[in-house]
Amino acid sequence: MTMSPGVGAGQNDPIVFSRPFRSAHELANLERVLVSDHAHGDGQFTKSATEKLKGITHADRALLTSSCTHALELAGRLLDLGPGDEVILPSFTFPSAATAIALTGATCVFVDVDLRYGNIDAQQVAEAITPKTRAISVVNYGGVAVDFDAIGAIASAHGLSVIEDNAHGLGGSFTGRPLGSFGTLAAQSFHDTKNIHSGEGGALIVNEASFMERAEIIREKGTNRSLFLRGQVDKYTWVDIGSSFLMSEYSAAVLDSQLASFDEIQALRFGIWDAYAAGLAEWAADAGIRLMDVPSDREHTAHLFFLQTANHADQVALLAHLRAAGVVGTFHYIPLDSSPAGRRYGRTSRELSVSKAFSERLVRLPLWAGMTDAQVERVIAAVRAFRPAAS
Ligand SMILES: Cc1ncc(COP(=O)(O)O)c(C=O)c1O
Repeated sequence: MTMSPGVGAGQNDPIVFSRPFRSAHELANLERVLVSDHAHGDGQFTKSATEKLKGITHADRALLTSSCTHALELAGRLLDLGPGDEVILPSFTFPSAATAIALTGATCVFVDVDLRYGNIDAQQVAEAITPKTRAISVVNYGGVAVDFDAIGAIASAHGLSVIEDNAHGLGGSFTGRPLGSFGTLAAQSFHDTKNIHSGEGGALIVNEASFMERAEIIREKGTNRSLFLRGQVDKYTWVDIGSSFLMSEYSAAVLDSQLASFDEIQALRFGIWDAYAAGLAEWAADAGIRLMDVPSDREHTAHLFFLQTANHADQVALLAHLRAAGVVGTFHYIPLDSSPAGRRYGRTSRELSVSKAFSERLVRLPLWAGMTDAQVERVIAAVRAFRPAAS
């Protein structure tokens, strides 16, 4: 049963870009935490939600964290990145991927994405490798997998680790294998703009077993408290430089309920994604606008639906047109190589014109579980009423 309030469902109410889904057991779960005297991390809901996450991603090891940003920072620490090291990452991604590298003192080496999917360009990754390269950080943009055959081959040839930012990709797959299982370490987001959320939240999936013990230590303030709680040491103490990356049980209580509704949430989101794809196909062909598509060897996650205009002026015009029609569309990342921090903590060996073009032409449409059919139809009608200047 969908518990999301039908806010914004009035005929002329603006249609928001994103709205957190409310799953069935959140309040009951929260009440259980409130009366349990265990509100800090690693309680019953953390355990239960972790098992559900492992089920979806087929992971052997996962740790819930306070955010995807923190999971990425944990990954940077685990890989022992430091000054003099380089990590290759796409310019078109969320700043947290770069922050996690810069915090260690390593250098961000930005490369382009491809113009069709917004995923890291494997050819440019291969060309950016130097003796200082330690890792490749990739993002499954919009829940569509990067080409892991190509990235995996480059990583193995040069002995590099792969950090997989799977913030958008829970439930997606590449050649039948779940996303989150490809990186040496993978990060999930449960921010309330994501398909599954706990307000703020994340997880680190540890695909290489040797990292697990230290991952638990860094996540637990640099102590071996996790070993102590399992009875593996009789006292716990400071053993490494750590932080407090645990998810609170309040958040885990909500997350566990959300994960229990995973199939329902995904079915609702796919209904909207498919309706956009079908309802806009003819208009897009006439208007010279490209719709998001997905390669046949990948399953996406209906995390977002984007259009790609022919130029930046049309992006600006389409966003303004949608706003006037009461529909909140939006652009996405500003390329990091052009950002103030990107210039300070990163470098690039060429002009990243594709990332710029992708960013300047992208328009994302509202997509959230709980949108009514009428709202979806209103979005489609509003988009179809737009004519690019050049068409
Ligand atoms: C690709 C990607 N990675 C990481 C993040 C950061 O996630 P969080 O808010 O959970 O730290 C985001 C945020 O939207 C994102 O889009």
